[in-house]
Amino acid sequence: MSAILRGHAEQLYAQELEELKKQDNGSRPENWLLSPPAVVAYLMGGTLKNGFEVSPKYIGNRRLMEIAVATLTTDRALLLYGLPGTAKSWVSEHLSAAISGDSTMMVQGTAGTSEESIRYGWNYARLLAEGPTENALVATPVMRAMQLGKIVRIEELTRIGADVQDALITILSEKSLPIPELNTEVQAVRGFNVIATANNRDKGVNELSSALKRRFNTVILPVPDSIEEEINIVKRRVESYEKVMQLPAELPALQEIRRVVTMFRELRNGVTADGKTKIKTPSGTLSTAEAISVMNSGLSMAAYFGDGRLTAADLAAGIIGAVIKDPMQDKLIWQEYVETVIKTRDEWKDLYRACRDLA
Ligand SMILES: Nc1ncnc2c1ncn2[C@@H]1O[C@H](COP(=O)(O)OP(=O)(O)O)[C@@H](O)[C@H]1O
Ligand SMILES: [Mg+2]
Repeated sequence: MSAILRGHAEQLYAQELEELKKQDNGSRPENWLLSPPAVVAYLMGGTLKNGFEVSPKYIGNRRLMEIAVATLTTDRALLLYGLPGTAKSWVSEHLSAAISGDSTMMVQGTAGTSEESIRYGWNYARLLAEGPTENALVATPVMRAMQLGKIVRIEELTRIGADVQDALITILSEKSLPIPELNTEVQAVRGFNVIATANNRDKGVNELSSALKRRFNTVILPVPDSIEEEINIVKRRVESYEKVMQLPAELPALQEIRRVVTMFRELRNGVTADGKTKIKTPSGTLSTAEAISVMNSGLSMAAYFGDGRLTAADLAAGIIGAVIKDPMQDKLIWQEYVETVIKTRDEWKDLYRACRDLA
């Protein structure tokens, strides 16, 4: 049998969760796998009393994770809010894995998300044959999470139309999902809660309705503060990617990661790292997540079309692809950056040449 391309957090980190559980003597909310401090320890990483190493999942402010976990013990739901690529989905997956041992109950929010994918739907063949029966009902992840007392994730909540979002109000305030067709309801079991994510780039697509806002505690995930922090995030993610993909490539030198992260931060902030030169900001998102994928695709280039050692040429195509999203405007911005910034840095000569070659 072939290996799974991407395991769920609870599969990939099963051993860490097991060790944390063994050492956990904090009190656990009903149906939680771990106590709240152990959930935070799983997210932030560290060494357990018996010397076992827990890897950090979220790199940043511990307090934010404490607030997120504490929220989930209350009757309020959790909204992770922030720019693209700030680990909202990543944190939400790991929170559900550590709290419920199951991160698979998830609804992906889109403009097309209907009420049936939040509440419940019907198997129409059965519905026609038997009428509305329990058998004909199709449960959603939300309904199952309520029945099992687990966390359900709702990705990109604000992409869902406002009227459909409101289907969550009764669920969050009454902790109940009425099924009028069967003259019954599903009452949420303890341990049930919702983690939603929303992008502040999507503002104006659909605002979070104010009735719903009051049912959520919002935790804002920030872009990494310092360049060192961001390099650290990229480094760890690239290492684990290489392990999973079993690429025949050497891990990139820290220096290469630093260059990509520096570049993305400069373009994002509209000014060079030394604060001296103003530059224009391209239209696309240049988040940590993009830096990670540029490094990953560079590694693939090096592995399959190079000698396994990452070079500037392996990175250039990925960088340009990430920066130039609009063929006109972004291209000019990029060319200006190449000529006024990259060119002037002695230790970036190889990168300059690689970028020129692709222009
Ligand atoms: N502070 C951080 N700590 C750990 N990983 C991070 C951090 N910021 C970004 N990442 C990485 O960036 C990637 C994209 O994050 P994702 O959760 O998809 O972003 P979004 O906020 O858009 O949902 C993930 O692989 C995650 O590991
Ligand atoms: Mg996301």
